[in-house]
Amino acid sequence: QQRELILAFESSCDETSVAVVENGDTILSNVIASQINSQKRFGGVVPEVASRHHVEQVTICAEEAMAQADVTYADLTAVAVTYGPGLVGALLIGVSAAKAIAFAHQLPLVPVNHMAGHIYAARLVKPLTYPLLALLVSGGHTEIVYMRAAGEFEIIGDTRDDAAGEAFDKVGRVLNLAYPAGKKIDDLAKQGTDTFNFPRAMIKDDNYDFSFSGLKSAFINTVHNAEQRGEELARADLAASFQASVIDVIVTKTMRAVREYGVNQLVMAGGVAANSGLRARFQQEIAAHTPNVDFVVPPLRLCGDNGAMIGAAAHVFYNQGVRANGQLNAKPGLSF
Ligand code: KG4
Ligand code: ZN
Repeated sequence: QQRELILAFESSCDETSVAVVENGDTILSNVIASQINSQKRFGGVVPEVASRHHVEQVTICAEEAMAQADVTYADLTAVAVTYGPGLVGALLIGVSAAKAIAFAHQLPLVPVNHMAGHIYAARLVKPLTYPLLALLVSGGHTEIVYMRAAGEFEIIGDTRDDAAGEAFDKVGRVLNLAYPAGKKIDDLAKQGTDTFNFPRAMIKDDNYDFSFSGLKSAFINTVHNAEQRGEELARADLAASFQASVIDVIVTKTMRAVREYGVNQLVMAGGVAANSGLRARFQQEIAAHTPNVDFVVPPLRLCGDNGAMIGAAAHVFYNQGVRANGQLNAKPGLSF
């Protein structure tokens, strides 16, 4: 069999997605059912609401993914699924669906770490060359991961408190922006300037860790103090100042790691990798200081949660012999 076809499930948070990926690098289909509209009403992801949506969507997405890819179950090589980290109830829906299909069609089942999926989204753009560093910035994670070889992950830096995306979403609430606020702050920031000069936590520390809760507090205090004085601050400048602080810290520390580890590639992944300011700043820094390092960022639609990235990661794990059976369970706190 020449075509390796993997049917991949993703349901760790608020996106139900099923994809068919060929040979780990070609997307035949990538169906994404977002729950953003129902989560917006609650200002965030409510686990019960998310699970209910996954139940309603997962079969529809799977059938649609198979139809769009124009393949049958007999053509498939394996079934892959995100089993963590994420919301336990949400993960369980994808895990159960994938198990059922693997069992019914006698296919191998490949368990995939969601964060590995975010990194391998880059493989859908171009081949990965090791050693590489991956910057994972999402609603739940802010990590710098060193990969010496395919399938080997070492976390060298992590957030001590809030994730970068979480900070965007919390600050967005203060500005009355609907959840998730990352994209809206990104857009607002383009019309403003960094006039508030918020703190750059841990920027000079001799490690690759991050902290965003102080920035969040500084932002909230600035807005509330102004409100008490009956003053209204320029929203675009607030957004631009917040974003400048986040970008400054992330780029400074990641670039230090890039030099320290002498890597070939820098992969940026996760929902916050969609940030236009962050992308532009990395491009500038790399061009100016480490032009031999290849900077890979997946296109916007592959930065957020999706099944194709799970299929791309599953290709690596499948060929390394990683398999799960009917006992596979969701692991909400899974790390590398
Ligand atoms: O990876 P993802 O889709 O879900 C998780 O696994 O967390 O990331 C979602 C996060 C949200 O916090 C959202 O506000 C943020 O990514 N985000 C952005 C942008 N687009 C999405 N943050 C900053 N700028 C953006 N353009
Ligand atoms: Zn994610």
